[in-house]
Amino acid sequence: MEWLRCPISAFLFPVFCFVAFFLFFPFKLQNNTTHFLFSHPLLPPTVKHLQNHTNIISSSSSSYPSSYPSPSPSPSPSPSPSPSPSSLHLLSNFTPANQTTNNSTLLSSSTKKFAGLEKIEEGLARARAAIQESIRSRNYTFDTRQTFVPKGSIYWNPHAFYQSHMEMVKRFKVWVYEEGEQPLVHDGPVNDIYAIEGQFMDEIDNYDKWSHFRTRNPEEAHVFYIPFSIANIVHYVYKPIMKHSDYEAIRLQRLVEDYIGVVADKYPYWNRSEGADHFLLSCHDWGPKVSFGKPKLFKSFIRVLCNANTSEGFIPNKDVSIPEVKLPKGKLGSPNLGQRPDDRSILAFFAGREHGDIRTMLLNYWKGKDNEVKVYESVPKGMDYFKLMGESKFCLCPSGFEVASPRVVEAFSAGCVPVLISSNYSPPFSDVLNWSQFSLEIPVEKIPEIKTILQRVSRNRYLKLHMNVMRVRRHFMIYRPAKPFDLMHMILHSIWLRRLNLRLIASASS
Ligand SMILES: *[C@@H]1O[C@H](CO)[C@@H](O)[C@H](O)[C@H]1NC(C)=O
Ligand SMILES: *[C@@H]1O[C@H](CO)[C@@H](O)[C@H](O)[C@H]1NC(C)=O
Ligand SMILES: *[C@@H]1O[C@H](CO)[C@@H](O)[C@H](O)[C@H]1NC(C)=O
Ligand SMILES: *[C@@H]1O[C@H](CO)[C@@H](O)[C@H](O)[C@H]1NC(C)=O
Ligand SMILES: *[C@@H]1O[C@H](CO)[C@@H](O)[C@H](O)[C@H]1NC(C)=O
Ligand SMILES: *[C@@H]1O[C@H](CO)[C@@H](O)[C@H](O)[C@H]1NC(C)=O
Ligand SMILES: *[C@@H]1O[C@H](CO)[C@@H](O)[C@H](O)[C@H]1NC(C)=O
Ligand SMILES: *[C@@H]1O[C@H](CO)[C@@H](O)[C@H](O)[C@H]1NC(C)=O
Repeated sequence: MEWLRCPISAFLFPVFCFVAFFLFFPFKLQNNTTHFLFSHPLLPPTVKHLQNHTNIISSSSSSYPSSYPSPSPSPSPSPSPSPSPSSLHLLSNFTPANQTTNNSTLLSSSTKKFAGLEKIEEGLARARAAIQESIRSRNYTFDTRQTFVPKGSIYWNPHAFYQSHMEMVKRFKVWVYEEGEQPLVHDGPVNDIYAIEGQFMDEIDNYDKWSHFRTRNPEEAHVFYIPFSIANIVHYVYKPIMKHSDYEAIRLQRLVEDYIGVVADKYPYWNRSEGADHFLLSCHDWGPKVSFGKPKLFKSFIRVLCNANTSEGFIPNKDVSIPEVKLPKGKLGSPNLGQRPDDRSILAFFAGREHGDIRTMLLNYWKGKDNEVKVYESVPKGMDYFKLMGESKFCLCPSGFEVASPRVVEAFSAGCVPVLISSNYSPPFSDVLNWSQFSLEIPVEKIPEIKTILQRVSRNRYLKLHMNVMRVRRHFMIYRPAKPFDLMHMILHSIWLRRLNLRLIASASS
């Protein structure tokens, strides 16, 4: 505990904190020996060459809500067409690598140092060219008989997506830093609302199982995984909570910053890209805070977050939004009790506690007030939450303590059209999926109009939304081991796209 309370000035005395850490660390570490943390002077970020060389991810960082088509309050059956920003057209807006930037001489002076980098960059260039070609020819270089092939309007560009996904399956390699010990690193919850932290960790970072994407050789890696579970840090480190200040994010920040300090010192990879090919995945509400202490250190770092709150620093083109999935113990999803569209007697459904302002508003306005808009704080006795979802046309998914809601994925399982009620939320996989094809968004200030807005959705439009929900849900399903186009692959594909947009060129002077 003492270590964790080290005042800032004590950080000038790393040795002291180092010792104090081992003396007072508040939980038992495996075998009583550990190399988990080292107080290490933090890195001044020194990037050599980080060249952003394609616009597969447009540099436009317009945030999602301003462009997301809201259901029109007018009785018009069609949604207001979206002036979709180029950032959401990630894959349709793709341009090939500018050949003049392929300057092999820049690489040659450092090929000794980064033996694999040139090969990696060549592979990425081939992948970009193949994606580009699939957009042009509307055909693929992969055998489409073996796999699911995305089709239809839920994708911005199904050809680009298919080609890109298969290129990823073929090429993408993740290296996991090995430093540190469980439970803060290399471990995470596999159930409940932060389950994705542990499931992803286990899928990628499991020594016993064979992970398709994991490489044992960092020279082969496209990206580097900082294997922290923020849910575990909060669970194990923030204990006991005696006073308000015990709950400050600085402990979390120091743990991750120190870890980065250690690996940046030990390996060349962080410094090489200034962290731009490094990522951390978190579903915890506190995920975004990890970078608040040293924004410069995390400037290029990929934060893979459920809490994709654009007014809390989430950057859609750099960070990755992932869904929150609440997993019951021992299960990989919620039950699928969906009725046919015509057999759904409830217009809209929500059940949940008063977590955060948006839910408070929703409950105040609708709880127990209406027969068609069924809003509960807790599901009444004798009724089943998932059965109710399966009997509803629309499932309300308001933000709680974080912008993401586990109800979105539950709604997909139940064949219920999710209605996002949030501010500044960048929904998952928006660079591939056109969310307005399978969900609605109702702005927070229109909570009183929920019923009229939903009643105005025509039958035809509802049937289309429902059909698209049934189509998109495969991308939100978890399998272990993971299968192409499932949730794990979608997460990896989002990271892959961000890596595809980078070109790392080691400095000629290094
Ligand atoms: C990519 O390059 C463009 C133009 O050079 C620049 O405006 C943009 O900020 C760059 N994006 C990143 C993520 O570095
Ligand atoms: C996205 O979906 C909306 C609503 O269905 C549609 O109006 C829009 O044209 C779609 N955008 C693209 C680029 O397909
Ligand atoms: C490619 O790069 C060169 C040199 O940086 C530049 O002059 C040229 O305009 C670029 N071409 C495109 C299509 O971006
Ligand atoms: C490649 O890099 C070298 C060294 O920086 C430079 O002199 C040369 O002009 C570059 N060539 C191209 C085609 O950009
Ligand atoms: C760069 O150019 C060389 C020779 O023109 C080619 O062999 C190589 O594949 C190219 N690399 C990339 C990453 O485009
Ligand atoms: C698509 O590519 C396959 C081989 O990869 C080829 O047999 C087929 O004719 C192509 N289809 C079109 C429409 O170009
Ligand atoms: C990376 O940069 C930091 C800060 O400049 C330095 O302390 C560290 O030793 C560097 N790492 C390597 C492997 O050179
Ligand atoms: C999103 O971030 C803003 C700014 O920090 C905050 O006011 C808001 O409450 C956040 N949203 C949620 C649902 O936590």
